[in-house]
Amino acid sequence: MPLGEAAILEQTPVSGGYCLLRLAAPELAAAAQPGQFIHLRIPGLETTALRRPFSIYRAGAGELAILYKRVGRGTDVLATLPAGTRLSVMGPLGNGFPLASGDRLPILVGGGYGVAPLVFLATRLPRKGVVLLGGRRAADVLCIADFEALGWSVEVATQDGSLGTEGLVTDLLGRHLDAGAPPAELFACGPDGMLRAVGTRAIAAGCRAWLSLDHHMVCGIGACLACVQRLREADGSIHIARVCKDGPIFEARTIVWEDPA
Ligand SMILES: Cc1cc2nc3c(=O)[nH]c(=O)nc-3n(C[C@H](O)[C@H](O)[C@H](O)COP(=O)(O)OP(=O)(O)OC[C@H]3O[C@@H](n4cnc5c(N)ncnc54)[C@H](O)[C@@H]3O)c2cc1C
Ligand code: FES
Repeated sequence: MPLGEAAILEQTPVSGGYCLLRLAAPELAAAAQPGQFIHLRIPGLETTALRRPFSIYRAGAGELAILYKRVGRGTDVLATLPAGTRLSVMGPLGNGFPLASGDRLPILVGGGYGVAPLVFLATRLPRKGVVLLGGRRAADVLCIADFEALGWSVEVATQDGSLGTEGLVTDLLGRHLDAGAPPAELFACGPDGMLRAVGTRAIAAGCRAWLSLDHHMVCGIGACLACVQRLREADGSIHIARVCKDGPIFEARTIVWEDPA
């Protein structure tokens, strides 16, 4: 199991209650692939001793960065840790996104902190394409400048209309998947409802869509079965996968969603 320590280099607040955390982690940064995650032990939470999973946002030059939202005890404590604090880090974990061959237009679809692994992916895909970002309001839409600096075309939808088009990011996607559009391959990360809608549209349009599932995790290495997901094989049989080890990225056609549409 890849386990080590990494020192915090810097913490920077970003809009919408998010923080950027940079870690000195040369080996981890060299090995990291887009879509993989790290499992952090947060000091001061030893009573539960559970690690917290975060997608890799950037990796290179001996550094690794994550973009996290403060949502509870662990992330609240994480936000208070000063530069120099050493964290126990497991990773890189998970399978990561496949790096498409370049014969199809890549469309990245992100919501909330789901944009973090997509920025990393945008640095590694062989072809630049379109990024569709969604959020409740302007402050929830992150990383526009990252994608633009990488030469990707960015479109935004917010539910309150405070930035970009008023509506859902999947409304933007619908326009790109209409008949006559160039063949596309989709890569998405965000809340379950968004992922499910992206998958449904992709399947209807005959596109492949790679979805990064966000399940609660405990061990992060495939041992505890806290994060299982049912998958449908090509022959129709059902297979149980572990999101932490077999995922978190799965092709939309294989995912069996548990709740009614
Ligand atoms: C593969 C993966 C990648 C992730 N990447 C990021 C990332 O890049 N940035 C980021 O901010 N967060 C990310 N998360 C979610 C992050 O792990 C949780 O927000 C974090 O563990 C919450 O810890 P906490 O102690 O602050 O919250 P807790 O006190 O444990 O919980 C607070 C609230 O957050 C909810 N929550 C806890 N874990 C998750 C989860 N996995 N998914 C959704 N809701 C959760 C709880 O149900 C509760 O409502 C990722 C999760 C996974 C599985
Ligand atoms: S979190 Fe333990 S098996 Fe996935």
